[in-house]
Amino acid sequence: MKLVYVLNGPNLSRLGTREPDVYGAETFADLAELCRETGRELGLSVEVRQTDDEAEMVGWLHEAADGKIPVVLNPAAFTHYSYALRDAIAQRTAPLVEVHISNPAAREEFRHTSVVAAVATGTIAGFGLTSYVLALRAVADAG
Ligand code: DQA
Repeated sequence: MKLVYVLNGPNLSRLGTREPDVYGAETFADLAELCRETGRELGLSVEVRQTDDEAEMVGWLHEAADGKIPVVLNPAAFTHYSYALRDAIAQRTAPLVEVHISNPAAREEFRHTSVVAAVATGTIAGFGLTSYVLALRAVADAG
């Protein structure tokens, strides 16, 4: 079974209590279960991780690059300023889908810039937790 990493950046562990009007009422545990369940349906083995630490995230991206492991990545706030993540993502060869729960383009100005979008395979944003389901489908279809 194809292994896929679902990597989540800062503050996403706080889903459910964090700005529920923006990010919804479901928790990070709900998100993780949704991703694993979607993986089972698609024949993917899904490993879900979350960190608030940029260095840890860069390490996971190196791991994915070395193992040629596809990634669904919600870089959270790192999206908007982390050139370290951007440079780590640029080393990959397997697909990487950037996902967002909200639609950053419809929010504050600073969220309109993604420094990682240009090195991702593609981006899915604005569909709530369904953004992850769509991204996993994209990874499954990528073969
Ligand atoms: C987010 C959008 C980012 O702007 C924000 O910093 C996040 C979550 C999203 O999933 O909508 O933490 O990536």
